[in-house]
Amino acid sequence: MRAAVLLPLLACLVACGASESHEPEASNEARYEGSLVFRRHGDEVASLSLAELARSFPPEVVSTEDPYYETRKRFVAIPIEPILTRAFGGDVEALRRESFVLKALDGYAVPMSGERLLEGGAHVALDDADVPGFAPIGPQRVSPAPAYLVWTRVGQSSLETHPRPWQLASIEIASFEALYPHTVPTGEPEDSPATRGFALFAGECIRCHAINREGGRVGPELNVPQSIVEYRPEAQIRAYIRNPLTFRYGAMPPHPNLGDRDLDDLVAYFHAMSTRKHDPDATP
Ligand code: HEC
Repeated sequence: MRAAVLLPLLACLVACGASESHEPEASNEARYEGSLVFRRHGDEVASLSLAELARSFPPEVVSTEDPYYETRKRFVAIPIEPILTRAFGGDVEALRRESFVLKALDGYAVPMSGERLLEGGAHVALDDADVPGFAPIGPQRVSPAPAYLVWTRVGQSSLETHPRPWQLASIEIASFEALYPHTVPTGEPEDSPATRGFALFAGECIRCHAINREGGRVGPELNVPQSIVEYRPEAQIRAYIRNPLTFRYGAMPPHPNLGDRDLDDLVAYFHAMSTRKHDPDATP
């Protein structure tokens, strides 16, 4: 109800203020630049412009406690459900059984179960409802445009359980193992430290870091050509993971949640991978 009343108003505020045109349709489209690509197991199944999505599924104004902005924010957004059923076909129930990977323009890649992505509350934000063109995020003042994944329900404001990729570029249906086969410590026993370290790495690190050239590109590759355990002392790696800001003012978040055993497991995983190198980009 509230959104239905607010939107035309908002559109007018922006459109009427910005140009002489009195065609809200046209100016609305101009507001949403960019598009989202959808892939199923590697094959592109759709590329939908944000303007097109906004025409098909009238955006609502949603309000969310935003962990990046560290305040309550309002966004002009579309729920994820109709976007995914339009792009992939089928119904929400079937999509809930898939696993997804959401990728940002800079290579940040978040694996997420369909169950999580479609639990309700996930929206693709097309704009800030109060600051047209999105307010910048954090000290580095990055813009989340063109699209930003936000969660609107109570209990969905932790980035660990409900990641919010910004500058969203693609949404893929892909199993983790198929997408990142060379990050798996094959042959390691079920309950070994390396296997536990892999689970941790897949949950918290791979969105930014690649192993064997597979994974996110925001942080450095950690296995090839040299493994991190081949050129950094173990104590330093552990201290870095727990609090990178004591080394540099970089873009890696601290991980105060990780205990000593978690760090043992991560280091064991790095050791295991250092004997399983795979580098498609290696120069002979
Ligand atoms: C949001 C992105 C992000 C996440 C999540 C992240 N990192 Fe990083 N990491 C970075 C960036 C960027 C750097 C480069 C230096 C910096 O900016 O601090 C880095 C640097 C590192 C380094 C030091 C590399 C070197 O040679 O100096 C290690 C080790 C590391 N990360 C491990 C991890 C582990 C393990 C996790 C998961 C528990 C993790 N990172 C999660 C972004 C991330």
